[in-house]
Amino acid sequence: RKRVVAFISGGGSNMLALAKAAAAPDFPAEIVAVFSDKAEAGGLEKAAALGIPTRAFPRRDFSGKEAHEAAILAALDAHAPDLICLAGYMRLLSAAFIARYEGRILNIHPALLPLFPGLDTHQRAIDAGMRIAGCTVHFVTEGMDEGPSIVQAAVPVRPDDTAGTLAARVLTVEHRSYPLALRLVAEGRVRMEGGRAVADGPLPSVEGA
Ligand code: GAR
Repeated sequence: RKRVVAFISGGGSNMLALAKAAAAPDFPAEIVAVFSDKAEAGGLEKAAALGIPTRAFPRRDFSGKEAHEAAILAALDAHAPDLICLAGYMRLLSAAFIARYEGRILNIHPALLPLFPGLDTHQRAIDAGMRIAGCTVHFVTEGMDEGPSIVQAAVPVRPDDTAGTLAARVLTVEHRSYPLALRLVAEGRVRMEGGRAVADGPLPSVEGA
């Protein structure tokens, strides 16, 4: 089983979806630790309740981005992860960090990338008059919410949607998309090569999405 460290900043529902999928004996990856840049992230307690080791690295405890990332990298080494899953981690990793784990960092974003990267995605999708929305799990490269897509899933945008109701609907497909993407990468069925996601054959999609 591939060793995965999940990075969170908030409630951690995507991290929990990964941990629940990984509880199945045939799942090809396990969550060996959960790291957060926020000591108060709700997901930390949820991970601890499942017996997963957690660590918080509050940014203000460090003199700068480099020192912050150096501490995280040192702690990562101790867990010897094969993969890193960013799951609502609201901080950009430096190019040097990404280079250390090239092709081995995944992120989930609650939009159909390359549309609506960054913050406030749901309101922007509504304001643009989108009739579908969704999520993207992708390999992390240097730009924010860039990098080749591994799994996408779509949901309808309803006429009476607010950013909140749309976010909740997208979240339901996030929880199915991230475990699928992690499975595909952990099994080596999708990899990043030359900045592209490469698959050996046809890939399953998120059921019902
Ligand atoms: C999720 O919707 C995730 O896609 C989003 O933050 C939420 C975290 O929820 N990530 C981003 O916006 C990254 N650009 P969670 O903590 O319950 O998984």
